[in-house]
Order: sequence, then C-alpha cells, then structure tokens
Amino acid sequence: MKNSDTNKELKKLVGTAAAGLIESGMTCGIGTGSTVAFLIEELGQRIRDEGLEITGVPTSFQSKILCRKYGIKVKDLQDCTELDLAIDGADEVDPELNAIKGGGAAHTLEKIVAAMAKKFVIIVDESKLVPELGTTFPIPVEIIPSALSFVTATVKEWGGESQLRMGLRKDGPVVSDNGQFIIDLKFKPGTDLRKIDAQLRQLPGVVETGLFYDLAKQVLVGSAKDMSVKTLERKQ
Ligand code: A5P
Repeated sequence: MKNSDTNKELKKLVGTAAAGLIESGMTCGIGTGSTVAFLIEELGQRIRDEGLEITGVPTSFQSKILCRKYGIKVKDLQDCTELDLAIDGADEVDPELNAIKGGGAAHTLEKIVAAMAKKFVIIVDESKLVPELGTTFPIPVEIIPSALSFVTATVKEWGGESQLRMGLRKDGPVVSDNGQFIIDLKFKPGTDLRKIDAQLRQLPGVVETGLFYDLAKQVLVGSAKDMSVKTLERKQ
C-alpha cells in the first residue's frame, strides 16, 4: 500500500511547480495526497505574496482542511459543473498517461473532478512511472459495504485477487469520505485492465474504480536527475 513519506523532496518539487499552472480567477479541482499537499502549501504562499485569487474544489476532507489552513477559498464539488483546471497526484502512470489512483481512498471524487476539468494534470515523482498499470500498485475500487462478498467473488471469477482495505489506527475496514469500503485488486501481468475497468463499472455495488483512462492531458514528473520537473503531454 502507499507510503506517503517516500520521495518527499521530489513531491515538493513537482507540487510547487504545479502551483505555477494556476492563474487568478480560476476555479480548480484540488486532488488529494502527499504530493498535492505541497501544491496547496505553495498556493497559500502565492495568495499571500501575489494576492492570487482562486477557488479550490477539494476532493477529500484532507484537502479541504489543508485549503482552509493555507487560505484557499473552497467551493463544494456538488455546486460545480465545470472547472478550469484540476491537479492531482497518482499511484501509477503509464506511457499513455493513464493512471491508478485511490491510494488515499479518494478516487471517486477525484475522478469526478478530473472529468469536469477543462484540463486535468497529474503530478508525480518519477517512481510512479510504470510500463503497464498494475505493476507496483493494486487497483483501488470503492464499493458499498453490502456488495463486498458479491464483488469479491466476481473478481475471483475473472482471475483477480481482492483485499478489503483495513484501517491504520482504526479497527476494521477503511471507510471512505463517502462512507463506503475500499477493496484493492490485483490481476496477472498482461491482463486487459481497460476491459476489467468497464466490467467493474457495470457491477451493482461498485461506486468507482481507481483506473483513470484517457483523463490526464499532462503529467508533471519530479525527477531526481538535476532535481528537475519534466512535462509529459498526452498524444491525441
Ligand atoms: C488519493 O486517493 C490518491 O488518488 C492520491 O492522489 C494518490 O494516492 C497519490 O498520493 P501521494 O501524492 O500521497 O503519493
């Protein structure tokens, strides 16, 4: 499972650089996680230094709390129909800029925000780049608790393994910000995950998967070489 404490320098580098994409007047989706925390901090700095005027649409309680701490005006996702930009971290990114997200159990709101944004940008350290999704990280899926046995059994029929995500410093399962469970799925290398994604989304009780296909337009990558930020653009 994800470790938020790894590659902090690179996360700070890329999170800080991403704040430069945001201009005064924008309404922006603000993702979740340890990389996005640096983005929020830098936006707070720009608000203080330059008088930047933005509205943030956070994808989790964590990001909402951080936005408030750093003086970013927040708007509820429920009240938005379109966003100028959305910026978020990821757990894995493949060469086509598809991603796995949900290591922090926030992928359902993150996917809504990504879909609503005119431009969705992912920010990662270079350890997140993989040749194929599912290489280093399982696929998080948010489900309603009553569907646990059904979805687990169905995933097994498809040749996958499923694990209910358990809380740390909390007894029992992780309960998402939406009050649901998270299961983490693994499939054999070479499995057609785009097909699995489509199948999962047809299953009653599945709220959303952490597979983000065809959503990111750009990925900023923090690289240890020269401590630089590389920009990857999606090929149309
Ligand atoms: C939250 O559920 C996730 O999608 C995060 O965006 C993802 O886990 C990346 O988090 P870090 O920036 O902490 O690695």
